[in-house]
Amino acid sequence: MDLFAAEEVTALRSEIEEHNYRYYVLDDPSVPDAHYDRLMTRLRELETAYPELASDDSPTKRVGGEALKGFQQVSHDVPMLSLDNAFSHEDMQAFERRIHDWLNSNETIEFACEPKLDGIAVSLLYIDGILQRGATRGDGSTGEDITANVRTIPSIPLRLRGQGYPKTLEVRGEIYMPKQGFDALNAKAMAAGEKTFVNPRNAAAGSLRQLDPNITAQRPLQMCCYAVGLVKDGELPKQHSAILDQLHTWGLRINSESQVVKGIKGCAEYYQYLLNKRDQLAYDIDGIVFKVNDIASQKRLGFVSRAPRWAIAHKFPAQEEMTTLLGVDFQVGRTGVLTPVARLKPVFVGGVTVSNATLHNADEIERLQVHIGDSVIVRRAGDVIPQVVRAVLERRPADSVEIVFPNQCPICASDVERLPGEAVTRCTGGLVCSAQRKEMIKHFASRKAMDIEGLGDKLVEQMVDEGIIVELADLFHLDLERIADMDRMGDKSAQNLLDAIEKAKYTTLPRFLFSLGIREVGEATALNLARHFGDIASLYTASEEALQEIEDIGPIVAGHIFHFMQQEANQTSIESLIAAGIHWPAMVQNEAQPLAGQTIVLTGKLEQFSRSEAKQRLQNLGAKVAGSVSANTSWVVAGPGAGSKLKKATELDIEVLDEDQFAIRLAELES
Ligand code: IVH
Repeated sequence: MDLFAAEEVTALRSEIEEHNYRYYVLDDPSVPDAHYDRLMTRLRELETAYPELASDDSPTKRVGGEALKGFQQVSHDVPMLSLDNAFSHEDMQAFERRIHDWLNSNETIEFACEPKLDGIAVSLLYIDGILQRGATRGDGSTGEDITANVRTIPSIPLRLRGQGYPKTLEVRGEIYMPKQGFDALNAKAMAAGEKTFVNPRNAAAGSLRQLDPNITAQRPLQMCCYAVGLVKDGELPKQHSAILDQLHTWGLRINSESQVVKGIKGCAEYYQYLLNKRDQLAYDIDGIVFKVNDIASQKRLGFVSRAPRWAIAHKFPAQEEMTTLLGVDFQVGRTGVLTPVARLKPVFVGGVTVSNATLHNADEIERLQVHIGDSVIVRRAGDVIPQVVRAVLERRPADSVEIVFPNQCPICASDVERLPGEAVTRCTGGLVCSAQRKEMIKHFASRKAMDIEGLGDKLVEQMVDEGIIVELADLFHLDLERIADMDRMGDKSAQNLLDAIEKAKYTTLPRFLFSLGIREVGEATALNLARHFGDIASLYTASEEALQEIEDIGPIVAGHIFHFMQQEANQTSIESLIAAGIHWPAMVQNEAQPLAGQTIVLTGKLEQFSRSEAKQRLQNLGAKVAGSVSANTSWVVAGPGAGSKLKKATELDIEVLDEDQFAIRLAELES
């Protein structure tokens, strides 16, 4: 008996039991799933290595949580089992190899692929086509009777459609809450000062566990079917995918992303396909379920302890992980806004290693009640910057330290201010503050502004730190030798940079206005300003009222523009830039714009143009480029892969152009 292993096993079991209770019984998990999965994996490892430590009451020996008091218990005649997990392509290869060995055949296997929905597994019992009972999985053999709640979910038929269904048909699937419904539910809870749900899975579980079905009825729940349980007096098709199609004809919801593929190669392609699509889906998924499609093969393969041999869940990288908050830095942005940035113990989440996450502002720190030293949950989904979503208060160490928002700018020591009604705190140092100067120059040089190739962030920071650039126009009077001497430079890159700066002098008025970094003046506003005024001088003298006449400019943005243009320092800066050689072609006047007043939507993949080029050219012709199709849309450009927007356009009978037709129309309009 290994004493260290025995101790670790005991500790793991009690920690897992605690998480199980919080997750299944209280609907209030304190750690992310990935952390829980690791504890289970470790426990299984130890129990395999030291069989003498195995025990019947270990969490590895049961599937899920306990039934709550207040609901009737339901026993599942056909147990509701769990799935084994795969975390890599190697795991998937091993899965296929096991199937080949077991079936004693090397023939290519057909797999049914389905998103692994992140909700609650339920069983629906239909007798003679009438919904008799809905039940949770519970521990796999005993669940809870949630018939009254299930009946409130619109996508669950109370009576099957069509005919030919078995006399007894138990359908299994997942009840879940789509992301949009979840956000709305939480927004409502927040407004009412009530506790919010941690994630959609949790919200679905909480909604199903209501003793009052009227509450469940108000929750945006969905059901998607993916299997059958007990079947008596009737026949079903011989393939899993065909069974699902059959269920569909009987009025049950199945997942529209389901596909049948050949071999592990097909599985890998499907995995990649859905991983790319993950963030666009209306619901959370945490991986893919692959199932041997042939039912006879499924029967031969059978089950091992808690999971079938014929199916596996290939998990996606977790989007939430737990790590430690090591400290908080306050970054100063272009307009002086102080952003608290969490410095984290590096953690692998959402497919990358994250060591920083935003804490947004003082209100957010207050809301999260997070301290330095806390365990925190970090979320990184898609391209969104990593967020700290909550602090795990149960794990707070005794020496945790409260986060104090500074009264002075950490860079230039000027006072900071927070204006009434604003969420942000700002440094009042303006261009005295080197942080603001750096950010202003980075913005000025960026792709959508002056587009100075080769002027990266590090170089800008070094130039400001060394006093080479004090104001924007200094960029246009750089000394080749001095630049060649800088870190990671050299004669060639210095010359390339000077060439790029020279090239950038020829720009457009909208780009130039955008590059000035006026608060809340983005590309679209800059374009409207340029179109309306046509030159810079008229902007110096424009009143706030005159500015508000422009589309999309309200009193706040008008105030920012007016204030900016009135500052002598800013006018001097603009004049120095123009004196340094920045110039642009005259603006096309409004009446010469053939697409003025039209709204155009781009969707799908474009091959001849980049998205931003297509957008810019349309805007130059006076069009507004919108992100979604509505009755106001004039026409739609649809490349390969176009989906819901194209469908909507067709429904609304809006003109749709493919890329070639679009190229021709652009050429005509521009000539
Ligand atoms: S099949 C015998 N298919 O994953 C196989 N399960 O860890 C039973 N899940 O309890 C499950 N989407 O809650 C299956 N398309 C899908 C699924 C799915 C989500 C959940 C389900 C199950 C758990 C297994």
